[in-house]
Amino acid sequence: MSLLLEWAAVQLQSYVTLEHEEIVRLLELPPNPELGDVAFPCYALSRTLKRAPAAIAEELAQRINGEGQPVRAEAKGPYVNLFLKREDWAPKLLSPLLVGDFGQSQAGSDQRVIIDLSSPNIAKPFGVGHLRSTMIGNALAQMYRFSGYDVVTVNHIGDWGTQFGKLMEAYSRWGDEAKLKEAPIKESLSLYVRFHEEVEHDAALEDEARRWFWKLENGDEEARRLWQYFVSFSMEEFDRVYARLGVKFDYTLGESFYNDKMGAVVERLSELQLLEESNGAQVVRLDEEGLPPCLILKTDGTTIYPTRDLATALYRKKEMGGDLLLYVVGAEQKLHFAQVFAVLKRMDEEVADDCHHLPFGLMKFDGRKMSTRKGQVIFLDEVLDEAVAKAAAIIAEKNPELEMAKEVAEAVGIGAIVFGDLKHHRMLEVDFSLDEALRFEGETGPYVQYTAARAFKLLAKGGLSVEEAETLSQSGAVVAGGRYGQYLTGAAAWECLKALAAYPEAIAESLRQHEPAVLARFLLDAAKRFNRFYHQERILTENEEETAAKLLLAAAVAGLLRSGLTLLGLKTPTQI
Ligand code: ARG
Repeated sequence: MSLLLEWAAVQLQSYVTLEHEEIVRLLELPPNPELGDVAFPCYALSRTLKRAPAAIAEELAQRINGEGQPVRAEAKGPYVNLFLKREDWAPKLLSPLLVGDFGQSQAGSDQRVIIDLSSPNIAKPFGVGHLRSTMIGNALAQMYRFSGYDVVTVNHIGDWGTQFGKLMEAYSRWGDEAKLKEAPIKESLSLYVRFHEEVEHDAALEDEARRWFWKLENGDEEARRLWQYFVSFSMEEFDRVYARLGVKFDYTLGESFYNDKMGAVVERLSELQLLEESNGAQVVRLDEEGLPPCLILKTDGTTIYPTRDLATALYRKKEMGGDLLLYVVGAEQKLHFAQVFAVLKRMDEEVADDCHHLPFGLMKFDGRKMSTRKGQVIFLDEVLDEAVAKAAAIIAEKNPELEMAKEVAEAVGIGAIVFGDLKHHRMLEVDFSLDEALRFEGETGPYVQYTAARAFKLLAKGGLSVEEAETLSQSGAVVAGGRYGQYLTGAAAWECLKALAAYPEAIAESLRQHEPAVLARFLLDAAKRFNRFYHQERILTENEEETAAKLLLAAAVAGLLRSGLTLLGLKTPTQI
């Protein structure tokens, strides 16, 4: 709940005959500071009082102003615009902001949320789509945790399926062990691409691939050995990426984990008489839902992607105790999830209702799309390297003396990519420009990181740490005696404070929409407002008390930007 609204409602309480909650619900935060800090629309009162809203607003404003409240009222049309007395309110707004867990809540009351994220495919490059899933999923996981949910993240690695048959066939025909050892994913990718080229004029390849996969599913030793080999080198490569991104998973459970759990699914479907034969395959018809049939067993009896997702959902619900099952997977799989959830609904309504696909749009890198089949792949590692190198060059120019420049460049380069992704609403298609994402003065991760570093630098200069500010707040010293308020009444400081105070709502809204972009935009706005303050006012002044007040604001900004960036998966260097 917004502190401002809460306070304004208390102020209004003695003037209107409405419940406190009702007043809070009616109050608005005006977009423009000229319309006050909080606005109260008089339509609801107008209905009960049977008078024109503007007349009520006029009278209300007069009464409020007549009583020397720490708020000034201005009637504007049907609204009463309330201007809080900054001197009194600034320290009250500031104090909670200084506490390390500001924004944290227990809203989730231990509900278990299971998040399916990242989920790249073995022996294929970690694609841009997987990057988006990793970053969006990770940000959601951290925000859920921050809000008191019991979060379990699962990396649902694509380690099973007919593509392994193709790979094994290609490897047995054209494979080169030395090459594979040296650059495993590149080599297996080129095998995969070659398979798709040659299969155009050699249809037998497809049958051979199918045979390999059949062997794998039936425990053939050679097939298992090759599979294990592909899995382990791919995981090494993925783990390198995760380490750079700073992402950890509670579980990495590949699709193969569900191999022995699909029999029960197929059995259950047949018990429920949902399975139908279609050209030798087994399907569940979904005519009622207006969806194409969901394929469960292929003609040769092998299972398929949807079958595994059915087993997965049931496992997450029944064995892992998930209350909410989220799938952060690209929008191109919308139909897949619609089908899987529709089949689930027939099997177990409750499970289906707790499942949600959170799709996201395509991302291109500097106009380049990616497709594994044609081999036009952008390797994530290379993109990350490029970003870090560019960040290093910018930093070397800006601050040649910087200590730990290498670590900072890594944090800023990768932060640029992560933030550049997360600041867009997830369904938007993103044409990612690295140079744009790295602009320190743009709407970028580095901009927020740089602003946080600026605040940290001020604190270091002024001799205050974020931890000391927290202690001051907890001791009550920030609000006591009305010392600091008078120095935080300038428009820039006040607007910055008000924005920061809305952090808890930004997180709640971000989760409600499952949009990390809401939090990313909040951080950009907070950073912008702090920079305005920084440029408009002197912070380190001769007046000790004034300096202390302004440093406290800087401490709030430093702490809060760091908290928000951490939730989004970015690091916050204290110097850039
Ligand atoms: N491995 C899949 C892909 O890259 C994504 C898996 C998403 N998760 C799931 N439960 N289906 O397309």
